[in-house]
Amino acid sequence: MTEFQAFRVYQQDNKVIGRLESLTFDDLSQGDVLIKTAYSSVNYKDALAATGVGKIIRDFPRIAGVDVAGTVVESKDKRFKEGDSVLVTGYEFGVSHDGGYAEYARVPAEWVVPLPESMSLFEAMALGTAGFTVALCVQRLEQNGQSPQMGQFVVTGATGGVGNFAVDIMSSLGYEVVAVTGKQDSHKLLFELGASHVMARQDIKLDGPPMEKGQWGGAIDNVGGEFLAWLTRTTKPWGNVASVGLAGGSQLNTTVMPFILRGVSILGITSSGCPTAYRQPLWQRLASDLAPKHMDKIVTNTVSLQDLPDVFNKMLAGETTGRTVVAINPTDHIPM
Ligand SMILES: NC(=O)c1ccc[n+]([C@@H]2O[C@H](COP(=O)([O-])OP(=O)(O)OC[C@H]3O[C@@H](n4cnc5c(N)ncnc54)[C@H](OP(=O)(O)O)[C@@H]3O)[C@@H](O)[C@H]2O)c1
Repeated sequence: MTEFQAFRVYQQDNKVIGRLESLTFDDLSQGDVLIKTAYSSVNYKDALAATGVGKIIRDFPRIAGVDVAGTVVESKDKRFKEGDSVLVTGYEFGVSHDGGYAEYARVPAEWVVPLPESMSLFEAMALGTAGFTVALCVQRLEQNGQSPQMGQFVVTGATGGVGNFAVDIMSSLGYEVVAVTGKQDSHKLLFELGASHVMARQDIKLDGPPMEKGQWGGAIDNVGGEFLAWLTRTTKPWGNVASVGLAGGSQLNTTVMPFILRGVSILGITSSGCPTAYRQPLWQRLASDLAPKHMDKIVTNTVSLQDLPDVFNKMLAGETTGRTVVAINPTDHIPM
């Protein structure tokens, strides 16, 4: 019987804790496709889920990890065969279905995306949910008429995983990117990734009137709360604010004024709930016109399963930058 290592999350005495353990295939959630994991990654949602800080995992025990890239070992679905390189992000993966922090994952065939030809398994997880989310933002912004000519484009939470990709990809698309960050020592990096301006989060006046001077063509917001409210008040007519995250809060206190007087739109972004039909084309774009130009600067950390608790704590404390890849059965050369 094959035994393998997994980072599994338990609820004990009202606390959520994860630990490495040895499992067999019988322990895994059911599905059509069995994947041997090469890499996974760490997203803010993983940190919330695996520590219990966010009530994301509700039935225990559960293997955490919302992303995986690896090789098909067996498939009951004709679309996939042994040896195929594939990836999975989102849906219920790592939430109510066992996720990517294990040497094997078993998932429904609908969740599986073939790895784009020019992308390595490592690159797929360097991108992971964070990169895919930015591609989804781009699609929704384009559909709603956003263009570089509309003016400066804000990215909040700019040093995070989603934020780094948003700065890189939006600047490559011709936008004049204004990166908003709480980290004083990261300004140089944000310029290197493509930002034209960097604003210190602490310098933003968050208690303005219902409408302020329109300054921004649009935005990708990873922070939520008062920052999202500020963006609605300061975006120019017809601008779009893609609402991605809640690292700074999930409340939204604003008025309808920006919407009914300026035609500002908030675009909801859900990568886990993204329709299946959009996924493969978006991954193809991530391998072509949306491929980040500074992957080497964005992937700051490659860790193993046992390092996860430490990474989660640092991420929740806002101390991480860029992307962390989890090497489980590494197949590619890992850039150092
Ligand atoms: N909707 C979706 O489909 C989707 C997909 C992926 C992620 N998300 C969400 O998007 C957010 C970013 O995810 P991520 O994986 O990129 O996380 P991350 O790497 O931890 O980045 C979050 C960033 O937000 C900023 N931040 C942290 N705490 C903050 C606070 N208290 N106030 C203001 N800013 C704060 C920090 O950037 P600075 O220090 O540079 O300001 C931090 O680097 C998370 O809320 C995540 O849940 C949503």
